Amino acid sequence: MSSLPTILVFGGSGLTGASIVNALLERKDFQVKVPVRPSSVDKPSTVELRKKGAIIIPFDIINSSSEDLQNILKGADTVICAIVFTQLGLQYKLVDAVKSAGVKRFVPCDFGTPGRRGVRKLHDEKLDVRDYVKASEIGYTFIDVGFWYQLHLMYTNKEKAYVPWLYEASRYVYNGGTVKTAYTDLGDIGRFTARIVADPRTLNQYVFAWGEEITQQDILTYARKYGDPNVEIIPKSTADLEALIAEAKEKKQGILAYWDYHYSMWILGENTSEMAKLPELGGALDARELYPDIKVRPLEDYAIEFYQ
Ligand SMILES: NC(=O)c1ccc[n+]([C@@H]2O[C@H](COP(=O)([O-])OP(=O)(O)OC[C@H]3O[C@@H](n4cnc5c(N)ncnc54)[C@H](OP(=O)(O)O)[C@@H]3O)[C@@H](O)[C@H]2O)c1
Repeated sequence: MSSLPTILVFGGSGLTGASIVNALLERKDFQVKVPVRPSSVDKPSTVELRKKGAIIIPFDIINSSSEDLQNILKGADTVICAIVFTQLGLQYKLVDAVKSAGVKRFVPCDFGTPGRRGVRKLHDEKLDVRDYVKASEIGYTFIDVGFWYQLHLMYTNKEKAYVPWLYEASRYVYNGGTVKTAYTDLGDIGRFTARIVADPRTLNQYVFAWGEEITQQDILTYARKYGDPNVEIIPKSTADLEALIAEAKEKKQGILAYWDYHYSMWILGENTSEMAKLPELGGALDARELYPDIKVRPLEDYAIEFYQ
């Protein structure tokens, strides 16, 4: 049996989760356990984590009872949740079990961008979970990370767009594109998180980790330098975005979450380290100040890979 403290990462086989699990395994500070749905035991990302030393536990959190959850949490020092954004409500029973099992620190499924309540539905759901965590009086750390590099460069080639509508939407530039927003490489999210959860200073704190703060004009520069020198932006105003949001709300379109993010980042300028530190946005500690030795991946480095 390992003498290292035990950490459980729910959603550890996912994009954010695997970044975190990989970084935890590299640091060797924890014994890392990853509950995965039984149907996911043999999926490639799970197999990869098992090979690297994670202990994979087949576990269906959706149908689990509070006893099941408490059993799986027995002996855990820290629990991180990085599940898919459509299942955030599962965290309420997880928090109850964390409390009953005496887990010392819980990190809920945030890993998003800072902002005020009432702007983005998804962010409001995450803030509700934070309120529940605080009311439960368990140890916690809330972590936001800005936007992934991997999701937000401009597409210069229609065929390569992750989903077809992103070819246009990624080139919407609001009010001249001079508002700054924080971005982070997916790989760095794990490195920051592994550091944060091993740090006593971050217990019962909100931490903001980020790679670079850039504008839409900077993103355009990379698109022209490494993608297509003639790529055209699609200029949009605040009123244009408000109309898109109203339409998505009326038609109940999934794209609403994307426009909400644009509104928060590019109109309100909420996604910066300066904003995250404001008491009304959570009073974050800045992970770049806590860990000045962490070398973040530059966005330009990722842009070169993206446009290849
Ligand atoms: N900052 C950003 O730019 C950014 C971008 C994307 C996401 N995020 C945030 O990061 C967090 C994690 O998102 P992610 O994209 O990394 O997650 P993800 O990869 O989509 O999913 C994580 C895990 O959730 C489980 N899962 C998937 N579908 C499920 C379902 N229908 N029911 C139950 N479990 C399911 C899977 O685990 P098993 O198959 O192992 O059970 C999966 O590996 C979310 O809070 C999200 O909002 C932030």
